[in-house]
Amino acid sequence: GEQATYGGFYTQDEIREIVRYAADRHITIVPEIEMPAHCRAALSAYPELSCTGGPFTVIPGGYWPNADIYCAGNEATFAFLEDVLDEILRLFPGRYIHVGGDEADRTTWKNCPKCQARMKREHLADEAALQSYFIRRIERFLASRHRSLIGWDEILDGGIAPEATVMSWRGIDGGIAAARQKHRAVMTPGSHCYFDHYQGTPAFEPRAIGGYTTLKKVYSYEPIPEALAAAESKYILGAQANLWSEFISTPSHAQYMALPRMAALAEVVWSPKEGRNWPDFAERIEPLMRRYDAFGHNYARSAYLVNIASSVDTVARRARCTLACEMPTAQIRCTLDGSDPTVFTPLYREPLLIDSTATIKAAAFQGNDRFGAISSETIVRHLASFLPVQYEFPYKRYTAGGTRGLTDGLRGTKWHNDGRWQGFDGVDFVATIDLGEAKALTEIGATFLQSTASWIFVPRSVEYLLSEDGVTFEPAAAFGNLATDGRLADGPHDYSRPLADTRARFVKIIARNMGPCPAWHPGAGESSWIFVDEIVIK
Ligand code: ACM
Ligand code: ZN
Repeated sequence: GEQATYGGFYTQDEIREIVRYAADRHITIVPEIEMPAHCRAALSAYPELSCTGGPFTVIPGGYWPNADIYCAGNEATFAFLEDVLDEILRLFPGRYIHVGGDEADRTTWKNCPKCQARMKREHLADEAALQSYFIRRIERFLASRHRSLIGWDEILDGGIAPEATVMSWRGIDGGIAAARQKHRAVMTPGSHCYFDHYQGTPAFEPRAIGGYTTLKKVYSYEPIPEALAAAESKYILGAQANLWSEFISTPSHAQYMALPRMAALAEVVWSPKEGRNWPDFAERIEPLMRRYDAFGHNYARSAYLVNIASSVDTVARRARCTLACEMPTAQIRCTLDGSDPTVFTPLYREPLLIDSTATIKAAAFQGNDRFGAISSETIVRHLASFLPVQYEFPYKRYTAGGTRGLTDGLRGTKWHNDGRWQGFDGVDFVATIDLGEAKALTEIGATFLQSTASWIFVPRSVEYLLSEDGVTFEPAAAFGNLATDGRLADGPHDYSRPLADTRARFVKIIARNMGPCPAWHPGAGESSWIFVDEIVIK
């Protein structure tokens, strides 16, 4: 009955065609048959291969929660997987067969009599060892068919199978550990190799799963970990990019995510480290893009996107805005009057000093052509602008640039990691601002983020208090019952109120943490975050 948002399949004939097409171009396709977890589609059709017997349905819209796993105590699981693999081996002639192994939630194994009996029989100390047994057993099967097993770095947990090759995706430690155990490894860390991540400022990109992996960042990747000695580094086979498609539904969008980042990674893996040079590569990207155009490929010009960064000039109390894009040869043009930059707009030459509310619009040009999107940013000026904030509880990890991050004029976006939000983990947000002298106030407010997938909830309540002397505070405005079940829509929520006949020098904000993540949330019972950005006092 569920509405499928995932789907599609290849017939064997189509697979043969793809494999042949690739082989003609000296490319080997490595199939991945995921086990022991990430197998909800299989368990929906064969629930008897789970520990619980199901039933299962494929979750529309995403693959979380992700607690499905084959029963490792059931012989039928192995018979099924060997049958599937036999079919795969006939289609894919390459040496390597990828068996996944990542993100296995072994909870149901703990309570399954069959899995527990297997652990006892095989003298396996824990469920990690049972997973290792699972992968070793599949490796023996593949070896009997003269193929080699490759899997995500979780296959190291509980002991790696004797001949296995590792794909290091949770950072580079898996690749280092594999090489030190004389196992081959392919580097594909989330930091540089996930092409499902954003490649430019999220506000100007199609929705992606998260992250921020620009063209320049990909190009900066060095696959051989520094920690490895020369003798160990020979086990690093190279690097791989991953393009998972939860948020990608058309081939054209997939091209956009892969190009030109794929060209950057290709140069990384196919050239010696000493030969790599970003400005040189950037210069060669432009003709490459013209080739993409000629082939009708969709590709990203995100490296031409102008980033607008702002810092506070605390003495002059103004914002200092710096514009930059990754492409060294591009010219940046910008306006301050709300109009779109054109080739006639003056060039940006030095940081912009902003002391009143203003909208910056900027774009990169190459000759007469504008490349990439126009980025824009509004700096809001108000009574608290660029003033330091005093905190009762410190912010953590998400600093927004420090004690003036909440008054820098830049408003947080719907992305919690845009550098503008200040994060408070498991505590209330209690802040005071000194306006320097008593001033007439007409409005007071602050914005809070809801982003439940990142454990971020708007506060339970927000109160504004005012004082003339910084000692005695009087309530001025309050919002209550904001997040009692945590089910508010994701995104920034503004809590501001007009004020009448009000004067004050000190403004205090008390925002109460919602408390632990609610029962429906994957982090139920764990501490939740408050994310706050611009405090606006008019
Ligand atoms: C992975 O991205 N789960 C390997
Ligand atoms: Zn089981």
